[in-house]
Amino acid sequence: MTGSEAAPTRVDTSRPHPARVYDWWLGGKDNYPVDEELARKILAADGTAVRGARANRRFMHRATRAAAESGIRQFLDIGTGIPTQPNLHQVAQGVAPESKVVYADNDPIVLRHAEALLHGSAEGTTNYVHADVREPATILRLAGESLDFGQPVALSLVALTHYLDDSAYDLLERYVEALVPGSHVVLSQVTSDISPEGVAKAAGLFRQSGTPFFPRTHAEFSRFFDGLELLDPGVVAVSEWRPEEEDLAAQAEGVVPVYAGVARKL
Ligand SMILES: C[S@@+](CC[C@H](N)C(=O)[O-])C[C@H]1O[C@@H](n2cnc3c(N)ncnc32)[C@H](O)[C@@H]1O
Repeated sequence: MTGSEAAPTRVDTSRPHPARVYDWWLGGKDNYPVDEELARKILAADGTAVRGARANRRFMHRATRAAAESGIRQFLDIGTGIPTQPNLHQVAQGVAPESKVVYADNDPIVLRHAEALLHGSAEGTTNYVHADVREPATILRLAGESLDFGQPVALSLVALTHYLDDSAYDLLERYVEALVPGSHVVLSQVTSDISPEGVAKAAGLFRQSGTPFFPRTHAEFSRFFDGLELLDPGVVAVSEWRPEEEDLAAQAEGVVPVYAGVARKL
């Protein structure tokens, strides 16, 4: 495990944190009353929150499996979240046990659970970096201690960019520049195109609680993939990205306001 010197490591339980709010929606136990309160308020405003979190998590599984099945053996997952089984390394290493995974997140609670996040992987195959996505030089340097950036990497920022303002476009470019052709870029984020009223209320609640929140339209989200080759089926609602049985069943309950896409670096 490794870490950024600058990132605070004290868990602040006085205000809600996105990782813990998301954990509550996923049915996890690593959240505090302030997180549950916000998670419940958002769910009341936007009834898709729990289904959206679950659908998003399943997308991460499918996109990771697709990368591993295409031959990618290195994974950099930024904004990884509190461990929820199966975690990304379990999916990737389920396809190819030698796959190397680096997780990064800036939330001290995720750091506290990093040991659990690495659970079950062979020595040296999975690492955790405690750092902010807005510090690409730090994350790439620390990730480079175990990943070989001369070989393809699946870079994932799943359900992360909606916490970032439009500086996220340049930021993503910095990460993509570090990747060789054949690498994958895996993204998902909340959109205001679907359930606009509920999403506007949810965004307002996040902002009031101190977490900036930026839903994006289809065009705005698609911009993240400029210069990359979007893989089928392109940018779609998260449960429509190569859906499996469970996703098709979930779709029957309605589309959730989260877009997803996977692209390959040319
Ligand atoms: C909604 S969770 C998504 C977790 C996981 N990627 C998934 O989709 O299941 C968002 C994660 O992004 C992390 N995050 C938010 N802002 C971040 C930042 N500036 N740098 C690094 N991680 C961040 C949060 O701590 C949280 O763990």
